[in-house]
Amino acid sequence: MQSLLQASMADRREHWLVTGSAGFIGSHVLEALLKAGQRVTSVDNFVTGSRANLESVREAVGESAWALHRFVEADLSDPEVCHALCQGVDLVVHQASVDSPIASIRDPLAVHRATSTAFVNLLVAACAANVKRIVYAASSSAYGDAAAVPATEDHTGRLQTPAAVSQFVNELYADVFSRCYGLETVGLRYFEVFGPRQVSRDDAGPARLIPRWTQDMWQGKRCVIHGDGDASRDFCYVGNVVQGTLAAALVDNPEAVNQVYNLAGGERATLNQLHALIAQALGREHAGLRIATPVYREADPEELRHTLADIGKARRLLGYTPAYSLSEGLALSVSWYVERVLEPA
Ligand SMILES: NC(=O)c1ccc[n+]([C@@H]2O[C@H](COP(=O)([O-])OP(=O)(O)OC[C@H]3O[C@@H](n4cnc5c(N)ncnc54)[C@H](O)[C@@H]3O)[C@@H](O)[C@H]2O)c1
Repeated sequence: MQSLLQASMADRREHWLVTGSAGFIGSHVLEALLKAGQRVTSVDNFVTGSRANLESVREAVGESAWALHRFVEADLSDPEVCHALCQGVDLVVHQASVDSPIASIRDPLAVHRATSTAFVNLLVAACAANVKRIVYAASSSAYGDAAAVPATEDHTGRLQTPAAVSQFVNELYADVFSRCYGLETVGLRYFEVFGPRQVSRDDAGPARLIPRWTQDMWQGKRCVIHGDGDASRDFCYVGNVVQGTLAAALVDNPEAVNQVYNLAGGERATLNQLHALIAQALGREHAGLRIATPVYREADPEELRHTLADIGKARRLLGYTPAYSLSEGLALSVSWYVERVLEPA
């Protein structure tokens, strides 16, 4: 699928706007587009993103591809910023938001501004500038307390946090903008995305355990597992997410647009399995490393025991096939942390 996308991009040169390009997923989307010879404007306000991520993209793509990129440091909650950014743009990939359930409970207004106000500003500006399509990051938090496994797009539950409401509201706005103004939109509910450039944060979901546990194991510390470790999640390598996101931006089938999709690995792993897989990947990096057994603490009673995405709709309409398995993605990620982040053992 990667090569098919690359081939279809070779035939068409577009001007893309990538929001949240200094963040984890946004920086990978930017890298893929520049490697495919596309012209990109990108924006970030560095609320959670970093200049180091942009530098890392520059290093990965080389100076001639980097010259196709214009970076703007700005905040999308300002409508004028969005109008200026959308001028002359064909396609938008929107990754900017504040993705923190905990921050949203502390300060729902700030998260609403960064996630929903910013998105509506972008939709209005995209319509005014005749942008063809906007592909936006949505979230598995839309499933709320719905415990169905696997989760299918039409069966959402009761939302759990203000952040989940802000993300879900974006899906409603996108749907209405596509019907009222003819703007093409595609929403992608990402599940637990992991990979290089992801940093561990206390206020985000289980995928963020991967950088934390990698570091803890590397330093000989015991990783903390909340619960018995048999809770499971659908972890998805960022390379799959980039493929699915670009497929959504480029798909020609009219039935595939103005839709929301699950974008995930489509398989689940327990936290105990995740721990073992990271340990194996680290063992391949450093044969002499001794990995401490995990320590088990109380589970969060609000957490769902299992999550798993049904990715059938994305397979059918976007041609999405995850190219990287969980263990392949973990091997690439762990290798990156060892090379770029961790002190030599
Ligand atoms: N990582 C995951 O597992 C996951 C899961 C579900 C959904 N998502 C969604 O995917 C998107 C990308 O996630 P990520 O993990 O890369 O997050 P991230 O925090 O690494 O990236 C978000 C980027 O957006 C920027 N940003 C935030 N508000 C902004 C604003 N108002 N103006 C300009 N820039 C702004 C941040 O500085 C950051 O660089 C987010 O919308 C997130 O909600 C991610």
